[in-house]
Amino acid sequence: MIKVLFVCLGNICRSPMAQIVFENMLREHGLENNFEIDSAGTEGYNEMCHAGIHRGTKEVLKRNGIPFSEHYSRKMQKKDYDYYDYIIAMDTENIKDIEYIVGFDKDNKVKRLLDYTNNPRNIRDPWYTGNFDETYDDVVEGCTAFLNYLNL
Ligand code: 4NP
Repeated sequence: MIKVLFVCLGNICRSPMAQIVFENMLREHGLENNFEIDSAGTEGYNEMCHAGIHRGTKEVLKRNGIPFSEHYSRKMQKKDYDYYDYIIAMDTENIKDIEYIVGFDKDNKVKRLLDYTNNPRNIRDPWYTGNFDETYDDVVEGCTAFLNYLNL
């Protein structure tokens, strides 16, 4: 079982999108039973916990024909670091925030999603851009590269 945790700030826009896109890719490859996938946020404010997926993320998933069920945001915990094999952040701020929660990345398991591509960079953040389509493109590029990297 390969355990993967996608992480962003609020766990309502980018990391649920990455979780759902990656789960869909795994189903397409018949690999879903080999994985345990979840997503979480680094933010601990109450209003960011147990929030549903952002409408913009739901709409872009629907436009692209990706099935999904509801996800409720949760804050990343220190114990998640030991449990998951891959902790996949959306941007460099997330990496700093993850290290604040879990301490030094001693097992070198924290990466940005687009670090698995030939063009390492941050996922564009729709909370600030309002553009969920470009975020979706980044997420698909990153998930494709990550699955490729796993070489299953
Ligand atoms: P996410 O988006 O980290 O992709 O879920 C955000 C959600 C909430 C906030 C920022 C980004 N916020 O500042 O409340």
